[in-house]
Amino acid sequence: MAKKTKTAYFCQECGYNSPKFMGKCPSCGTWNAMVEEIVQSPVEQKGSWVSSTDQKKKVNKPFPIAEIVYSEEDRTDTNDSELNRVLGGGIMPGSVVLIGGEPGIGKSTLMLQVALSLPFQKVLYVSGEESAQQIKMRADRLALKSNNCFILTETNTQHIFQHVKKEQPDILVIDSIQTLASNLVESAAGSVSQVRECTSELIQFAKETQTPVFLIGHINKEGSIAGPKVLEHMVDTVLQFEGDRHMSYRILRTTKNRFGSTSELGIYEMQSVGLRQVSNPSEILISQRDEDLSGITIGATLEGNRPLLIEIQSLVSTSVYGNPQRSCTGFDAKRLNMILAVLEKRGGLRLGLQDVFLNITGGLKIEDPAIDLAVCASIISSLEEYSVDSKICFAAEVGLGGEIRAVNRIENRISEAEKLGFKEIYISKYNMKGMDLKNYKIKINLVGKLDDLMNKLFK
Ligand code: TYD
Ligand code: MG
Repeated sequence: MAKKTKTAYFCQECGYNSPKFMGKCPSCGTWNAMVEEIVQSPVEQKGSWVSSTDQKKKVNKPFPIAEIVYSEEDRTDTNDSELNRVLGGGIMPGSVVLIGGEPGIGKSTLMLQVALSLPFQKVLYVSGEESAQQIKMRADRLALKSNNCFILTETNTQHIFQHVKKEQPDILVIDSIQTLASNLVESAAGSVSQVRECTSELIQFAKETQTPVFLIGHINKEGSIAGPKVLEHMVDTVLQFEGDRHMSYRILRTTKNRFGSTSELGIYEMQSVGLRQVSNPSEILISQRDEDLSGITIGATLEGNRPLLIEIQSLVSTSVYGNPQRSCTGFDAKRLNMILAVLEKRGGLRLGLQDVFLNITGGLKIEDPAIDLAVCASIISSLEEYSVDSKICFAAEVGLGGEIRAVNRIENRISEAEKLGFKEIYISKYNMKGMDLKNYKIKINLVGKLDDLMNKLFK
């Protein structure tokens, strides 16, 4: 007797499934996200990765935590210091890393570059999107050669695992997870149930064989990785590859990492011969200017453990329509409004009838409050048409009372500014605890209130 096809409705946002159609997902509350997909009964579902030990039905038993051993040296160095940094120091054995990003941002380029620069690891690069010739063309463009990189153009997970068993790669790359399909689920590739099934098969493979797996994932219009949110819960590490496609800089950001910090950041530049690692980002984030311009200041911020000097530009001009505009890129709009109110009330500046535009250069989004002082200085500089020397930088938070507050890890910020050749830095006088000013060659200006800044800088 022909088997009846079984279908269910899956929420495209969170992966919730229900036998009936629903307008609103009861799990995440999204409207119109339920889509019908073909499934099979869960009894028949069994991952397609079956290892030889699996058949013997190994049963795990509890272990005292003190006896469990692991070694940091097991991590594989990727020859790419930026990628190592975001992964928390290299690739962990058995880890599953998901790399998301907009189309054309360079995900395939990054993974191919990594695959080709690991001469001692056998890498299997599975592509469901491009032909082997296209990948070879890209490899030629990158001018990298490796005898240990194998390309497989295949989308069926059962077939992929057959090749994996034969080739026994040290690292598996999947480009992309949305193109894969497993025989165990009948719905189309890219659907929620397929993406989830293929990912869980790959995770099972990674954990059993201790082989690291990289998954490339598409992102949808809202900017999150396409497929259910559960995908992000299943994998060990989620990396976001961001950047403006029209600019050459790309940022690799960790949004989840079971083996390291999530505040790390890798910076690349897309060149005609592939992605170049940018090891000193401050150099590219600060524009080279010969003339002194008003409204430009430099803030010393931290992204993860990495000190960065970034340029803040603002433009203050009289509003034509009486309803002043405030707009910013790379900075929180609410925080800008707060800073403007503080400048108005505590600094006595007349900003109420001015348009204010604020821009953090380099396409970065900064949440670190330590750039408040640089933002204040930049706005005052533009308002007063008074340029700030390009060798001066700032690192402090501004409070509602107009007080200049201390920020964390001030030594790192000062050392970075000194290393990059800045002559002066403005910090909070409350940051002085346990610090010896004699250790630094850079001139350190201590300020306690907004008034101090105005008197010292804009005298
Ligand atoms: P790609 O890696 O195909 O992006 P994704 O896999 O994220 O969709 O990125 C390709 C873009 O990068 C493409 O528009 C061309 C450009 N590019 C370079 O500028 N230099 C290069 O060396 C390569 C390989 C690509
Ligand atoms: Mg691609």
